Amino acid sequence: MRWFLIAALALVAVVSTAAADQCINCHRIETPGIVEQWLSGNMSKHFSCGTCHGTEHRGYDDWQKAKMPTPDTCRGCHSRQYEQYASGKHYYAWIAMKAMPALQHVPNPQRDLEGFKGCSGCHKIGIIEDKGEYRYGAAACDSCHTRHKFSKEEARKPEACLPCHMGFDHPQYEMWSTSKHGVIYRIEGDTGRAPKCQTCHMPQGNHRVMTSWGFLALRVPEDDEEWWKDRVTILQALGVLDENGNPTERFEVVKAGKVARLSKEEWQAEREKMIEICSECHSENFAREQLEAGDRMIREADKVFAEAIRTVRELYDLGILEKPEGWKYAPDLLQFYEVKTPIEEELYLMFLEYRMRTFQGAFHMNPDYSFWYGWAPLKSSLIKIKYEAEKLKQEKANDNGVKEPVKTETPKAEKEETKSTPGFELIAVIAGAGIAAILRRSRKL
Ligand code: HEC
Ligand code: HEC
Ligand code: HEC
Ligand code: HEC
Ligand code: HEC
Ligand code: HEC
Ligand code: HEC
Ligand code: HEC
Repeated sequence: MRWFLIAALALVAVVSTAAADQCINCHRIETPGIVEQWLSGNMSKHFSCGTCHGTEHRGYDDWQKAKMPTPDTCRGCHSRQYEQYASGKHYYAWIAMKAMPALQHVPNPQRDLEGFKGCSGCHKIGIIEDKGEYRYGAAACDSCHTRHKFSKEEARKPEACLPCHMGFDHPQYEMWSTSKHGVIYRIEGDTGRAPKCQTCHMPQGNHRVMTSWGFLALRVPEDDEEWWKDRVTILQALGVLDENGNPTERFEVVKAGKVARLSKEEWQAEREKMIEICSECHSENFAREQLEAGDRMIREADKVFAEAIRTVRELYDLGILEKPEGWKYAPDLLQFYEVKTPIEEELYLMFLEYRMRTFQGAFHMNPDYSFWYGWAPLKSSLIKIKYEAEKLKQEKANDNGVKEPVKTETPKAEKEETKSTPGFELIAVIAGAGIAAILRRSRKL
């Protein structure tokens, strides 16, 4: 029996080495860069091309038979990293992108399995289950460990996050690299004295990335009653709550894509983990104060943003703006820039650029982003929106032959209260009771 096993193993080794050599020999000519990178990485000491791409393709004309890896390919040997990834936010990136109503207007190569020129170019870090016929781009793990070197050193560098965590609505790289933390890194190099992205978001190499607030800085519910009122206004403009404050079908998407933390415990758990990380270098109290100041910036930004939303919503209520065909909610923030009026374009900038920067900058210790690229333009947008709304109301009044301009104050504040409170309770109930179901459902996705 023993001799048989040894012989079998030897045969497998010979066959796979021969196959490996075949791949590498030919690919040294066809794609020399790939071969060189692969051989420079640590995995090449253990196996070869065929382990990930299969061995069916062996010649010049049958390259279509080569298989393209997915995270499942890596999972077999790296189950720990896979499971962590799957329990964090990166796993949901494709699902969350696909759920956006604005996506229907995005050109195919930018949104789909087709070239990855836009949304899809970053969101392919998520799991793509329905890969269809398109060959490339569903590997996810190569987002930080680029092929074919597959290096952990590379992934430990903050630059590995840069291609995605930058720019318009999530400039974390710019914010971090110009904060004290990033500047120390730039001066001293990767000495560990100041934190980089991975220190705070992937401690001990944990592949589960998840923050308390997340991208949209929404948590449900909110204890502070004033703040919750502003939140309801925002959630309504996101189409997540309907006009009576009840959850809509979009609320299901929020749950399935883990877009918001749906219980206080869930939110607090992430916060405590973060404070523990800061506390390796700062006092716990200092860290807590810092993060709570960030929370307060969200509340302040929400106040301004909600006022702008109410101003625009009033235009719909007065019939000055008409709900565009095919829209279920108006104003609808999830249409992004695909709106019909300049006033809603401004609202879109408040939503995705200025509000984001106000709190993201605060959390990344960057006063400039938080203030001059966040708070200040947030305030100027509100002025523009109110001015424009006033003009539209006067035009309407003139059209109707009314000489007096219509009243300027937003008359909604009172009504808001009675509308929003039931929604709060409902969500609190859903959030409390539904967690198990949510988790069950999201595992299936
Ligand atoms: C006799 C030459 C030859 C051998 C042997 C060979 N390949 Fe290729 N392979 C090619 C050529 C040619 C292409 C197409 C390259 C191009 O489009 O530039 C290709 C393409 C590929 C692709 C990309 C397919 C795509 O859809 O873009 C993969 C992956 C691949 N080979 C893996 C392998 C593996 C694994 C082996 C060994 C089991 C192997 N190759 C053996 C010549 C070879
Ligand atoms: C057949 C098993 C196997 C598969 C499949 C596999 N790996 Fe590995 N991987 C290993 C082994 C073994 C090592 C340790 C190499 C060493 O240090 O000598 C490793 C190491 C690594 C490392 C650390 C490299 C370094 O810098 O030291 C990364 C990153 C990695 N793998 C990523 C991946 C990714 C991504 C995939 C899927 C595309 C994948 N692996 C598929 C076995 C595998
Ligand atoms: C430059 C890379 C990049 C592009 C392009 C991009 N995104 Fe994102 N997207 C991200 C990153 C990074 C995040 C997480 C940001 C954060 O949490 O601050 C994100 C977050 C999101 C979220 C929130 C997910 C959640 O659960 O919180 C949605 C939804 C989304 N993007 C949709 C889109 C759509 C739709 C497009 C195209 C119209 C798009 N993205 C284009 C990188 C990108
Ligand atoms: C650890 C797994 C793994 C091994 C081993 C591996 N590859 Fe790949 N390869 C990948 C991943 C991941 C992709 C990207 C797949 C996608 O985009 O869908 C890829 C894509 C490719 C592509 C097409 C994309 C491009 O950049 O041109 C070629 C060609 C290729 N590999 C050749 C090779 C060759 C030749 C070898 C051996 C020298 C090899 N691969 C070994 C994981 C691997
Ligand atoms: C000193 C620790 C620290 C460093 C370094 C750091 N972050 Fe953060 N990050 C935070 C904190 C704190 C939050 C807010 C957590 C919360 O929601 O309470 C956050 C939030 C985020 C979010 C969610 C949206 C947001 O901005 O509030 C993303 C995405 C993110 N960070 C990415 C990055 C990237 C990428 C880097 C590196 C360029 C980085 N972070 C560097 C601490 C850090
Ligand atoms: C967001 C970036 C990112 C993504 C996506 C990512 N990794 Fe990593 N990976 C890292 C970082 C950072 C490290 C280094 C951790 C450390 O400091 O030990 C790492 C380390 C590793 C290691 C080496 C572990 C060790 O201790 O030697 C393996 C194996 C690995 N990753 C596999 C994977 C697999 C499999 C996937 C896909 C499921 C994946 N990674 C996706 C960032 C990433
Ligand atoms: C290929 C693009 C890409 C790369 C590279 C990337 N990310 Fe992300 N990241 C995303 C997208 C897209 C999301 C939003 C996913 C979602 O929420 O659905 C995200 C979400 C996050 C979040 C969660 C924010 C939340 O909602 O709580 C953190 C934290 C994060 N990334 C950190 C990192 C770090 C650290 C790195 C580098 C080690 C990194 N990312 C590399 C695209 C990327
Ligand atoms: C790896 C160590 C390390 C970690 C982790 C770390 N910091 Fe720092 N931080 C530093 C160093 C070093 C400085 C510069 C010296 C100083 O001001 O204390 C600094 C500076 C700061 C500053 C600027 C202080 C000033 O006086 O201008 C703030 C604010 C800050 N950190 C907050 C945080 C928060 C919040 C966290 C966790 C989310 C955190 N830091 C995590 C090392 C760290």
